[in-house]
Amino acid sequence: MSEIEVTKVGKVGVLPTDKNLGFGKIFTDHMFVMDYDSRKGWHSPRIIPYAEFSSLPAMIVFHYGQAIFEGMKAFRTVDNHINVFRPYEYLNRFNRSADFLCIPKMDVEQIHTALFQLLALEKDWVPGDPGTSLYIRPFVIASEPHLGVKVADSYKLFIILSPVGAYYETGFKPVSIKVEDKYVRATKGGLGQAKTPANYAMSLAAQQEAYADGFGQVLWLDAVHRKYIEEVGTMNIFFKINGEIITPELNGSILGGITRRTVLELSKSWGMKVSERQISIEEVFEAHTKGELEEVFGSGTAAVISPVGELSWKGQKIAINNNQTGEFSQKLFDYITSVQSGKIDDQLGWMEDVNC
Ligand SMILES: Cc1ncc(COP(=O)(O)O)c(C=O)c1O
Repeated sequence: MSEIEVTKVGKVGVLPTDKNLGFGKIFTDHMFVMDYDSRKGWHSPRIIPYAEFSSLPAMIVFHYGQAIFEGMKAFRTVDNHINVFRPYEYLNRFNRSADFLCIPKMDVEQIHTALFQLLALEKDWVPGDPGTSLYIRPFVIASEPHLGVKVADSYKLFIILSPVGAYYETGFKPVSIKVEDKYVRATKGGLGQAKTPANYAMSLAAQQEAYADGFGQVLWLDAVHRKYIEEVGTMNIFFKINGEIITPELNGSILGGITRRTVLELSKSWGMKVSERQISIEEVFEAHTKGELEEVFGSGTAAVISPVGELSWKGQKIAINNNQTGEFSQKLFDYITSVQSGKIDDQLGWMEDVNC
């Protein structure tokens, strides 16, 4: 690619103490930006200070939502390296999302190089306390000013970075989940498998109602039969039934999570019986009645593993594992986070060193 032009900030910011990080509130000094137009393709890669950028009110993204994003993490390891978790997996998914939204494909190698150069420059922003990380948010927006629904002729790609605190500051807290029977998130033939803002806009009303009813998250069912399990807010979902690990197959309407893939690979490597298949909410409730539903947990980049303590469906509520974190959920969480922090060997080759 053409050389990345770097413009550094005059005065650098300071990473707050790891205790005050929260999630997605603080941004590092620099960002990566690149432009696209149909004549030049992707061009002008540059690292510049994190700041406002100019945009016209008629930009297509504001009106018709043509945009995609990703969410991945870099970690400061116990021996003080900066490592990124499975970057190619996330960047390849970024390109798959681009396809769904008719956004021109990016060169994954080029974005990888840009990301690692940005991370090397911002290495002091990577927090080091247990559970903390640097969240990486690549995104593309349609920047052409135009009213009328069409595929844009111009785009902007950004990578911004945000140091984030530990998701579980006081240990695991199993979450209470509402099985959604009024709203739907996505359907086959739609955008459910793309990481695009429309899917998150779809989820807001259901999320608000669930919060108002005292639930932490929503579990989506399929849009046609309203019975097959899809996924949770920003997580894929797993069930441990009679020793078997079951997760909905990638059916075209759910996001293929990188943590989901990680859980599947790890479970197989531990000799567990693993199935990716259609699973209905009735089957889950029946398994509970028979005493066979051992654990339920979500998987996602932000939380890694999130144990589910309760499921509520049409007014029926079941407690899973007495609302306690299950052994398997805990084992997965401990293993994945220990590889990420460099406490144990990365035997499955997930981590890439920024070498800075
Ligand atoms: C809708 C949705 N499902 C699942 C996931 C989990 O995916 P990953 O493990 O890649 O973070 C996410 C988070 O990115 C998400 O937004």
